[in-house]
Amino acid sequence: MTTVGILGTGIVGRTLAARLAELGADVVVGARTADSQSLEQLAELNVGTGSFADAAGHGDLIINATNGLHSLAVLESVGSDALVGKTLVDVANELQPVEGGLPKPVVAADASLAQRIQDAYPDTFVVKSLNTMGCHVMVNPSIVAGDHTVFLSGDDAGAKQRVQELLASFGWRPEQMLDLGGIDTAAGPELMMTAWIRVMIARGFDGTFNWAVNSA
Ligand SMILES: NC(=O)c1ccc[n+]([C@@H]2O[C@H](COP(=O)([O-])OP(=O)(O)OC[C@H]3O[C@@H](n4cnc5c(N)ncnc54)[C@H](OP(=O)(O)O)[C@@H]3O)[C@@H](O)[C@H]2O)c1
Repeated sequence: MTTVGILGTGIVGRTLAARLAELGADVVVGARTADSQSLEQLAELNVGTGSFADAAGHGDLIINATNGLHSLAVLESVGSDALVGKTLVDVANELQPVEGGLPKPVVAADASLAQRIQDAYPDTFVVKSLNTMGCHVMVNPSIVAGDHTVFLSGDDAGAKQRVQELLASFGWRPEQMLDLGGIDTAAGPELMMTAWIRVMIARGFDGTFNWAVNSA
């Protein structure tokens, strides 16, 4: 059975946890502290809970679903020992809250969050994926019509293969998965958040859509 540590208790962490538990994975979801109130929302799921360090220590596969502005601090609190040799799927985006407005993506084209995580943890295999869509699409791609696309960026072929298997378990077909290349390509999908927010607004604040890359 796959062991998965999910860092993050927000809608993304909870949605991924529910789907993975449904698929039979052995999941622990982590928060800032093991008795964090945020973990109460997971009470009805068939998953374990704990601190971020507990979740990271549990999983062979780790998913970073924390607030992107704090992801590096979260990983620092976990420590590199729990991350060594593991695949870390980074679904986070760095969004600056805006008083009275919508959050503003703050990613820099030459310094993506995924790249900075990879630089900080060279013995961990970081794969950026799933950050370009709403979480209900992540775990159930068939809710969006057509051959829409999920991107992958990462330096390690084995880790990307592992993430592709995870995606396949959610229902993604191979032709929907687009490997962009190394982790240096992760800035692209992170920058797409600016457009994602605009499209979501244009659709009446409905985030149930996804990008499609179609070819001739
Ligand atoms: N919403 C979507 O559909 C969607 C889609 C694609 C990507 N994303 C990205 O996925 C990630 C998760 O999104 P979300 O909406 O589920 O949750 P979120 O509200 O962005 O993040 C929640 C998690 O971040 C932790 N956190 C918040 N502030 C922190 C701080 N100061 N220090 C340490 N940890 C802190 C929380 O810890 P506690 O549990 O202890 O409170 C919680 O576990 C984000 O990076 C988001 O941009 C979201």
